[in-house]
Amino acid sequence: MKNLFLLDPSITYLNHGSYGACPVSVFNDYQGWQKKLEQQPVQFITKHLWRHLEEARKELGGFLNCNGDDILLFPNPTTAINNVIENLNLNKGDEVLMTQHEYGALVRAWSRSSKKNHFAIVQQPVNIPVNSKKNFIKQFLAGITVNTKVLFISQITSQTGLIFPVKEICEYARKRGIITIVDGAHVPGHINLNISNLDCDFYTGTCHKWLCAPKGSSFLYVKKSLQDSIKPQIMSWGEEGDDPGPSQFQMDFQWQGTKDMSSFLSIPSAIHFIESNNWKENHKLSKELILEVSDDLKNLFGTDPLFKSEDWVGQMVSHPLPLNVPENLKEILWEKFLIEVPIFEWKKQKYIRVSAHFYNGKNDMKTLLNALKIIF
Ligand SMILES: Cc1ncc(COP(=O)(O)O)c(C=O)c1O
Repeated sequence: MKNLFLLDPSITYLNHGSYGACPVSVFNDYQGWQKKLEQQPVQFITKHLWRHLEEARKELGGFLNCNGDDILLFPNPTTAINNVIENLNLNKGDEVLMTQHEYGALVRAWSRSSKKNHFAIVQQPVNIPVNSKKNFIKQFLAGITVNTKVLFISQITSQTGLIFPVKEICEYARKRGIITIVDGAHVPGHINLNISNLDCDFYTGTCHKWLCAPKGSSFLYVKKSLQDSIKPQIMSWGEEGDDPGPSQFQMDFQWQGTKDMSSFLSIPSAIHFIESNNWKENHKLSKELILEVSDDLKNLFGTDPLFKSEDWVGQMVSHPLPLNVPENLKEILWEKFLIEVPIFEWKKQKYIRVSAHFYNGKNDMKTLLNALKIIF
């Protein structure tokens, strides 16, 4: 399927996890929206945009199994989560529980607010390699105290590429009146997501990663009962503006000053692309590739995976590198072999993270392994 994407065919692209990659058809749709906007900016922005945004939200809601009116469109999860943090009114004595695997930028966002508002952040350790779901949940929930007001957890982690059992965790928190915020940046178009079933309070996800929409398309789901209590960081016209909306919540957020919203408008095209290319079957095939490459890396480096059973991973695996890893491994792989793959340090250990999506095949993994064999 490589020719359905805009990726340079001469490179081996094993980093869908970072920014995604956009199919030609979806990118054409995106540019089509941009052209429509520029043909008559005033009419497009003042008369039609709100309706197209509503359609995009509706389609996305259908895909995520929640009401489209409960979704706010944001360019990325960082903006979405910053908006949530600022609305929680946490104070001295309150605690936010999260795993040690959360995305660095968002941990920084929490930290800034915790310093300003004097609440505590608890980054609960869990044993690696992760083994049973039950153990993981038990270890993580041991971090809850009477002061825990918020639970923040990734459904698929960035650096460690692990799928966490968020459903059970949200259920536990809900019974205790703890607010649940799920970071699902890597989830839509990767693994099944049913937000209504998950029943969390807030859920952020990207459309530009595994759903293959253009960059700058993400969302924040907010449970109905909390919508009155959340206000945008960027205050604009809201209900005094021209755009109608189903609620004050939508009107407050949907217009935040002039910007190109074409990436939001092409979300339906991305959903159409992944559905018409059987994304669930693609998931199975990509996961097989990932499990094979995980075994190969284990055999090559003699280092153990971060997980004991395959239900912890999807289309992305992070594998520990040996101690003799060259300082500039990432550059060597790119400059000598044209392989784009992330190499990074997490908790004093170096990792390689391999992603597989529609356009990857066995050959890509072979190219990576051959290169690593030459280098090591
Ligand atoms: C788990 C996770 N959360 C949040 C984000 C935030 O993405 P952004 O920097 O685009 O807001 C990422 C990005 O890769 C991520 O992997």
